[in-house]
Amino acid sequence: MNNETPTDLAALLTESVAARSSLLEQLHCEETTCYRLLHGAVEGCPGLTVDRYGPLLWVQTFHEPLPPGALEALSQAADQALGQSLIPIWNHRAQARHPASGYADPPEADGWHLAHEAGLAYEIQPRRWGKDPWLFLDFRATRRWVRAHSKDLSVLNLFAYTCGVGLAALAGGAREVWNVDFSASVLDVGLRNLDHNALDTQRFDTIQADVIPTVRQLGGLPVKGRGSRRRPYARFDARQFDLVVLDPPTWATSPFGAIDPVRDYGSLLKPSLLATKPGGVVVATNHVSTVEVEGWVDSLERTARKIGRPIQSLELLPPDGDFPSSDGRHPLKVAVLRA
Ligand SMILES: C[S@@+](CC[C@H](N)C(=O)[O-])C[C@H]1O[C@@H](n2cnc3c(N)ncnc32)[C@H](O)[C@@H]1O
Repeated sequence: MNNETPTDLAALLTESVAARSSLLEQLHCEETTCYRLLHGAVEGCPGLTVDRYGPLLWVQTFHEPLPPGALEALSQAADQALGQSLIPIWNHRAQARHPASGYADPPEADGWHLAHEAGLAYEIQPRRWGKDPWLFLDFRATRRWVRAHSKDLSVLNLFAYTCGVGLAALAGGAREVWNVDFSASVLDVGLRNLDHNALDTQRFDTIQADVIPTVRQLGGLPVKGRGSRRRPYARFDARQFDLVVLDPPTWATSPFGAIDPVRDYGSLLKPSLLATKPGGVVVATNHVSTVEVEGWVDSLERTARKIGRPIQSLELLPPDGDFPSSDGRHPLKVAVLRA
């Protein structure tokens, strides 16, 4: 923010909601109640985002805290523009390391809530200290694509988090969905999401495991790294899926190696491709904002050629229009590749 007053911020929000009016109409028609309303610098307000998650108005600051009175002004502007009364919550991400922010959520924000995307219910929880409320909104276009292309397919959802993509695949008629993540708590949210939607639990599995040894075994590769000798890991026979979603974090380490989408995307793509049936699809993502799409796509093509699975077609999926970009270069890059 650049010293805007609460009134300035409210005016910016009114403007950004108006700029999305046709998208919001479309989203409401498809029963979606979670979306971004104000997207930081691109919409005149660096360091500030405003989202709706069902009944919650989720205001995030990334550098400067909100000036006094701003949450109330933003809340009033959002309620007026949307014709809804949302519960305002401020999440100051810059203080993630300093828990004494002194800000308390309103009591009605306590517990969990439901937000809907394309008619599917997702559990939302206002978590503090810079954490997101369990659903990444910029991934909506990918969930939509997966849902539209999953009928009768086997789907492997890697780095599944709260199983948003897995749920979309199941709702799209997938025959079988595996969701792999090493965090039990996020997979538990995924299972609660399954319950909230009364979908077929028999076709949906959550697997609490490290993705690296898991996908290597599925792809028929040996498990390497320090961890392979010292740490027990879940064993899998090699097998191939029709559709693999590979959505790694920006950086992480594991006893089985580093997840480094900048320098070594290939070490994730290779086993993912090998765990995909020939002619099947990998939906690969890269969240690192400094990685340019052209160089990343080149690296995908190189890896695929090297392992004898050249890419037959590649489509890029930009996020929906509630994540506008001034130059069309979105930090989140999503490539749907058939190989
Ligand atoms: C960017 S989130 C994935 C978002 C998710 N695909 C979605 O649809 O919203 C990254 C996830 O990777 C998981 N993760 C990170 N390193 C991992 C590893 N080595 N094995 C398994 N899961 C891992 C984290 O627990 C987190 O849930």
